[in-house]
Amino acid sequence: MDKLYLDHAATTPPCPEARAAFNAAADDCFANPGSLHQAGADAARLIEKSRREISKLLGASNYKLVFTATGTESNHLGIRGFFQSGRAIVGEIEHPSSRAAVDALEVTTDIAPVNCDGRIDTEAFKNLLSDDVGLISIQWVNNEIGSLQPVHELVQLARLLAPRAHFHIDAIQAAGKLNLHLDQLGVDSISIAAHKFGGIRGCAALLFHNNCKQPTPYFTGGGHESGLRSGTENTMGIAAMAAALSAKHNKISSAPNYLHDSRQRLITAIANECDIEVLGPSDEQLTSGAILSIVLKGMRAEPFLHQLETHRIYVGSGSACNAHGHSESPTLAAVQLKEEMRNSVLRISFSDELSNELTLRVATAMALTAGFFKD
Ligand SMILES: Cc1ncc(COP(=O)(O)O)c(C=O)c1O
Repeated sequence: MDKLYLDHAATTPPCPEARAAFNAAADDCFANPGSLHQAGADAARLIEKSRREISKLLGASNYKLVFTATGTESNHLGIRGFFQSGRAIVGEIEHPSSRAAVDALEVTTDIAPVNCDGRIDTEAFKNLLSDDVGLISIQWVNNEIGSLQPVHELVQLARLLAPRAHFHIDAIQAAGKLNLHLDQLGVDSISIAAHKFGGIRGCAALLFHNNCKQPTPYFTGGGHESGLRSGTENTMGIAAMAAALSAKHNKISSAPNYLHDSRQRLITAIANECDIEVLGPSDEQLTSGAILSIVLKGMRAEPFLHQLETHRIYVGSGSACNAHGHSESPTLAAVQLKEEMRNSVLRISFSDELSNELTLRVATAMALTAGFFKD
């Protein structure tokens, strides 16, 4: 039986296009891009070509792009690197990396609350805005339940009512899954990470608007990335990142609904076999097609997940319990999931099409697993 890996929100397998670009760069462009010889210049050219390609794919002609190593690092640079003064506003269900970056500012911070679907309450957000807000950090797609934030509306409100605020968006679960157009959004900075869209781990980026002042760098030294992120560039990872994003964008352009179609098939098939509740918005427009978060009524997610492994199917848990020792998910509490259900959340995430055959395989394995625990 083939391995069926459905934990793409944690990390994706490198796609064929990324592997090919990585290998080509490893063969031809492995030299240090800072070296003066031709081999170094070739590597530097590949980095610039990839930078242009990624910016184009993200509709970001008005943005500068800095390569970093991880999404966490990009969030810290986008949040701490730009902060000057004032209050901060952060979404209630942000990834811990953005939350920690905002906490590190040590300023008065207000939480923009979410509703039971995990979407920011725009009225409550509006009430937090004023001239003294210096920073706003909101994620585009939630990594646990897949809810999409109304980012266009939030950015517009902030421009009107908190004109001094630097607005950062964590787009780490959005890039490669949705068509992003940064010039239209007009946000100040966004972070993306290659390993969430078929690239290779160790490569991420921060994009910031041309109107922004330069961020304060955290890694200083050799002056790489225009002095904003010192450290020898990950040429192979960068080439793979551009190739992966391009492949995902081609897929989205040719089949805009492929993730949602797969997700809907999965919901129908699993609900036929198991007693589940789907978390997050029911409206497709308001949720990511790549994440399906479900409550398995009467089951504990952790043993369920391990039993599913006997069918060679790998899924995530609602991060109530994970390998880093977090004991409780603030997201599940924020969406007011009953306490007794918070250990029953399974996250199934994917970034490729799920065929009918694979969908049936998941549903059947889940039915067998549910039966295993009932017997
Ligand atoms: C929404 C979101 N933001 C930030 C991160 C952090 O990214 P990385 O693990 O690459 O540092 C993740 C990773 O899971 C994420 O899902």
